[in-house]
Amino acid sequence: MDVALLQGRGLSKRFGGVQALEEVDFEVQAGTIVGLIGPNGAGKTTLFNIVAGTFPPSSGVVLFGGRTITGMPAFRICRQGIARTFQVTRPFGEMTCLENVAVAAVNRHPGCPKEQWMTLARESLAAVGLEALKDTAAKHLNVVQKKRLEIARSLATEPTLLMLDEVLGGLNTQEIQEAIGFIRRLRDDRGLTVFWIEHVMGAIMQATEKVIVLDQGRVLTVGPPREVVADERVIHAYLGD
Ligand SMILES: Nc1ncnc2c1ncn2[C@@H]1O[C@H](COP(=O)(O)OP(=O)(O)OP(=O)(O)O)[C@@H](O)[C@H]1O
Ligand SMILES: [Mg+2]
Repeated sequence: MDVALLQGRGLSKRFGGVQALEEVDFEVQAGTIVGLIGPNGAGKTTLFNIVAGTFPPSSGVVLFGGRTITGMPAFRICRQGIARTFQVTRPFGEMTCLENVAVAAVNRHPGCPKEQWMTLARESLAAVGLEALKDTAAKHLNVVQKKRLEIARSLATEPTLLMLDEVLGGLNTQEIQEAIGFIRRLRDDRGLTVFWIEHVMGAIMQATEKVIVLDQGRVLTVGPPREVVADERVIHAYLGD
């Protein structure tokens, strides 16, 4: 069944003189992997920030599971089952990887016993292949490991919807293939819905069922990846004249 787990209706966002988003409508169906693409500055991260509660939209609504979440604080949106990674990772550098992930688990389940947080944190670190670095301070991780830590932190909040903001940056071809496999398994094995901003077009082509293209704050087109990448308007948005 074609259920929209996440919906945006008429979302606009203005920062001073910059119209970052204008009247954006979109839907992410439950159990799908949906790509969000567009040139630099198109408004992709702004859309994620609005959904995740980093800041409210200037106008418009966000619905999750049919209920309005517009303007809720980030910690409450997290507890509804929405997790996101950050394009620019900022782990707590002096804390270990395990502690960084445990903080995310605590945010989701503040009243639970410590052992439950730690179990969730260990499982999440293992899922992204960082268990060997669990006692390493996060400041010692390289860029790729920090991206994995971001995903582990997201998983530790036990989301239904995982929003990924450019997690493939800095990976080589083989690592990209592994990451695509990993993200598909999150959907196939855990039933997660994935909303994915990515500039690596090969990953979007392989992993997504649907792609939403933003350009200058507006939805340029929506469709299956193969159609979208062949669309003249999309090519023009990326490459110009
Ligand atoms: N917090 C903010 N304050 C002011 N302007 C902002 C803020 N966040 C984003 N913008 C502006 O809004 C526009 C959209 O930015 P956004 O970061 O959403 O783009 P993006 O599609 O994620 O780009 P990229 O692919 O480079 O990450 C840009 O013009 C940006 O400078
Ligand atoms: Mg961005």
